Amino acid sequence: YHRQILLDLPLGVCTIDRLRTVTIWNLAMEVMTGVPARDAIGVSLHRLPAPWGHLLAGFASASDEHIHHLEVTHQGKSRWFNLHKAAIPAPLPVDHPVEEARTSQVILMEDLTDLETLEAELAHSERLASIGRLAAGVAHEIGNPVTGIASLAQNLRHEDDQELVRESIEEILKQTQRITTIVKTLMNFSRGGGIGGDIQDFSIRDVADEAIRLVKLTRHGRQVQCENLCQSDLNITADRQGISQILVNILTNACDASPPGSRVELHAREIDDQVRIEVQDQGEGIEEQDLSYIFEPFFTTKAPGDGTGLGLAIAYKIVSDHQGAISIDSEKGRGTRVIIELPKTGLNAITAETS
Ligand SMILES: Nc1ncnc2c1ncn2[C@@H]1O[C@H](COP(=O)(O)OP(=O)(O)OP(=O)(O)O)[C@@H](O)[C@H]1O
Ligand SMILES: [Mg+2]
Repeated sequence: YHRQILLDLPLGVCTIDRLRTVTIWNLAMEVMTGVPARDAIGVSLHRLPAPWGHLLAGFASASDEHIHHLEVTHQGKSRWFNLHKAAIPAPLPVDHPVEEARTSQVILMEDLTDLETLEAELAHSERLASIGRLAAGVAHEIGNPVTGIASLAQNLRHEDDQELVRESIEEILKQTQRITTIVKTLMNFSRGGGIGGDIQDFSIRDVADEAIRLVKLTRHGRQVQCENLCQSDLNITADRQGISQILVNILTNACDASPPGSRVELHAREIDDQVRIEVQDQGEGIEEQDLSYIFEPFFTTKAPGDGTGLGLAIAYKIVSDHQGAISIDSEKGRGTRVIIELPKTGLNAITAETS
């Protein structure tokens, strides 16, 4: 009865005796390996056809009882397996030499290939989807000023009024500038190697002060009370301009989302060898279904002209260039907290290596 359970299990089961001869080779094992039980049972494990003989014999003598996510190439295709084994205790004959004191074993083999393929397909379609969104975003952002420029130029053809001509030219230059800014931002975004040249040791509190001063220049920034609660003696070695940009982007979002008169708090403290920066607002919060998109380029819930949807994507890029992490904790109607973790001195090593 127990034997029948083993044979029918949807998991590859193979047992070997003390001499490494196969004693059980269940149906799932036949399916996974393509080796029929009649060719496996009674055969020494390492004599099984490639790649199984080598693989299973190696695992039988290994000290690890589990191998996870093992990639095996079989008939030109990659397959993934988990392997588990356990000894089956059996009394040894009294006169048995000690070096041969191996026990019988049961080996279980789990085929992960379907799961793996599914995950790869999902990741691929996610990537395609975000490339699509990126392309649509670029097209939209650049399409608007281009349309503007085209119609202004068209009107200029028949325009004699010098004053109007000058105004149109100014407007064309302004729209061109808008495109240049978008292209530059995108270029920065995709530049290889990441961090700019400006690596230095600086006080987080100072950079936070500067960022607050900049954000105060905006309409929403003026209406919100920004509090710099960062520890005053906390320094970090990083791309100063990059960190400043992250804080400006995040503070701008916080102020945009906050009702007039509410507070936005900036905290920074050291945890182990990380600096943890938090920006907390009492604003409108983020819809749950939006949370997984907010770091994507061009994702915005703001009106055209109010937001490009690049702020958090850029922050994400700069944080990853610093080998840090950024996350967001938010609930609709309850405010938002953005958490950034950066290695405090990790970049010392990188700059020392490159200089
Ligand atoms: N603190 C926050 N509170 C509420 N929503 C936020 C907050 N931060 C970000 N969001 C949401 O995430 C979206 C993406 O933010 P992101 O900074 O990337 O782009 P944006 O602010 O819309 O445009 P940009 O920063 O390019 O001007 C915002 O449109 C907003 O919906
Ligand atoms: Mg923003």
